[in-house]
Amino acid sequence: MRTPVIAGNWKMNKTPAEAVELARAVLAEIQPFTTVERVLCPPFVALAGLAPVLAGSGVGLGAQNLHWEKSGAFTGEISAPMLAGLCQYVIIGHSERRQFFGETDASVNKKVQAALAHGLTPIVCVGENLAENEAGQTGAVVTRQVRGAYAGLAAEAALKTIIAYEPVWAIGTGKAATPEQANAVMARFIRDLLQELYSAEVAGALRLQYGGSVTAANAAALMAQPDIDGALVGGASLKAADFAAIVKAAAG
Ligand code: 13P
Repeated sequence: MRTPVIAGNWKMNKTPAEAVELARAVLAEIQPFTTVERVLCPPFVALAGLAPVLAGSGVGLGAQNLHWEKSGAFTGEISAPMLAGLCQYVIIGHSERRQFFGETDASVNKKVQAALAHGLTPIVCVGENLAENEAGQTGAVVTRQVRGAYAGLAAEAALKTIIAYEPVWAIGTGKAATPEQANAVMARFIRDLLQELYSAEVAGALRLQYGGSVTAANAAALMAQPDIDGALVGGASLKAADFAAIVKAAAG
């Protein structure tokens, strides 16, 4: 039985003070749902403020990116050891980073390895864009991205990760994948590939989140699918009541 995991990706929203305010409001609503693993991912500058708010609450804290080197001349970057004392999760390879900031399968792989080396749980994002989807390349793209992210990773390490399947055409568009569509990608492409790369045990144990226009209204249907173990939520994670409704849907 896989524990559902719901993460809120706040993206580039909220000042540190606003983030604390939102975290308090979200916490008040989601704390009772202890059967769901719950994670808030604010911008870097809000991590230190949120850590004491979430400490001991059962709700985890995550960053939205990291650099693979431990330290050095990388102006503007944040490393895994810097995050390790502050948070427990880190989103890696989000499509917005791939699209706007030059993230590649190779850099995603280095970041996953760095996160794991410092005890952080990577939430590894994969997903095809609209053109790729319309060209029937969903399987090829997702397979390439998963292969790239997990290159050189042993089964034991892979088991510590979470994969978020986020079709780019569904992100922020209000046009979520249908539950059946999303589940088919998880089952046919992601779990089958994990079985090929590792084993049936690893393929069956890894948690797969869906991301892309998840709302309070569609969460239950998505979560009812056998291969969907949670959600990576953008817009709806910025509203305490909406995010709580999604967590509740995952609790069943
Ligand atoms: P939306 O939920 O706003 O579509 O964003 C999804 C996402 O990118 C989460 O990482």
